[in-house]
Amino acid sequence: MPPFAARMDRIVGSATVGISNLVARKRREGADILSLSLGEPDFTTPEHVRQAAKDALDAGHTHYTPGPGIPELREAVAAFHQDRNGIPCEAGHVLVTPTKQAVMMAVLAVADRGDEVLLPDPAWVSYDPIVQWAHATPVPVPCDAESGFRMTPDAVAERITPRSRAVLLNSPSNPTGGVNTPDDVRGIVELAIDHDLWVLSDEIYQRLLYEGTHQSAAALADAFDRTITIDGLSKSFAMTGWRMGWAVAPEPAFKQMNKLQSHSVTHCTSFAQHGAVAALTGPQDSVREMRETFRARRDLMVEGLNAIPGVSCPTPAGAFYVFPRFEQAEAAGGDEALCMKLIEEAGVAGTPGSAFGAGGAGHLRLSYAASEQTLREALRRLGDALA
Ligand SMILES: Cc1ncc(COP(=O)(O)O)c(C=O)c1O
Repeated sequence: MPPFAARMDRIVGSATVGISNLVARKRREGADILSLSLGEPDFTTPEHVRQAAKDALDAGHTHYTPGPGIPELREAVAAFHQDRNGIPCEAGHVLVTPTKQAVMMAVLAVADRGDEVLLPDPAWVSYDPIVQWAHATPVPVPCDAESGFRMTPDAVAERITPRSRAVLLNSPSNPTGGVNTPDDVRGIVELAIDHDLWVLSDEIYQRLLYEGTHQSAAALADAFDRTITIDGLSKSFAMTGWRMGWAVAPEPAFKQMNKLQSHSVTHCTSFAQHGAVAALTGPQDSVREMRETFRARRDLMVEGLNAIPGVSCPTPAGAFYVFPRFEQAEAAGGDEALCMKLIEEAGVAGTPGSAFGAGGAGHLRLSYAASEQTLREALRRLGDALA
């Protein structure tokens, strides 16, 4: 067989996808496994959004659209970030693309071979491989449980070098649910200005915030011209399958990313874009309702996990994950071994904390985007298995 590109050796497959494949295999073999491993709302996309996409299909919106997105959607996204986040953007700054693709295009646009990209640690599983893909170097910035898993300006400042090119923020965070304070974001933006860095701000969980204030980096003074804001509808509107997200970027960055878009995905699915317009401009009650349901589930999980001896679970301020620490991980041989043991012995699947970076050692990520009944049963099983 001919060789593969050397870059493929630096990229590992997604741990969350690996666990879900394992769960699927075990279920096929007849095992009763509760999965708390995926970052996917268990709700169905709101009815009016589904209807808008169906109407678009029936109206014949089945052709190529403009590469950066249909004008109505770019307008709606710009209005959303202006009104909600105070970002001084216009429709021309909006590039509609799946959220994961937006992260990838932003990194490819700004980071070169040997450049350093500062990332939270623990962080979403795809940031590190995406940075590796660009031949750049990921630099983990510890976000400790003691600080509520925040990314602090002090921790960022300590890791800036002459090779630093960008700092990536993700608040609320996957996997910890940690939320950066407005002062954190302000401090990091000031560092970016002083050291001439790009700020890549992944705000996909901004509408799943239970406490605190969401601060968009791009809304701060002098920040817009160096900040690429990334967001999407997967999490807040239960639209994971639609692949609907976007980047909001200053014009020079928009142009670079749009080149990548034009030579890769071309544009997002035509009728799905019409559904996205309905999501952003139509009734917002479903977002509020889902958030309140997530909040109740979060409280259930935090209370239930903290009641298990050896488990300590901080209360996350956002997203739909808890990131508890397990004293039992050491005896099990690490969090990966503990995760496997809990799948085998308790029939509960989480994701090992180490999959999200060195800072996740000893933790598991458990998603509470599952029914209350599933969560109660998972807590019961975890309590029995860990006792
Ligand atoms: C922090 C973060 N950013 C981006 C994404 C990608 O979202 P999408 O599935 O809409 O591409 C995810 C999905 O899990 C995520 O957790």
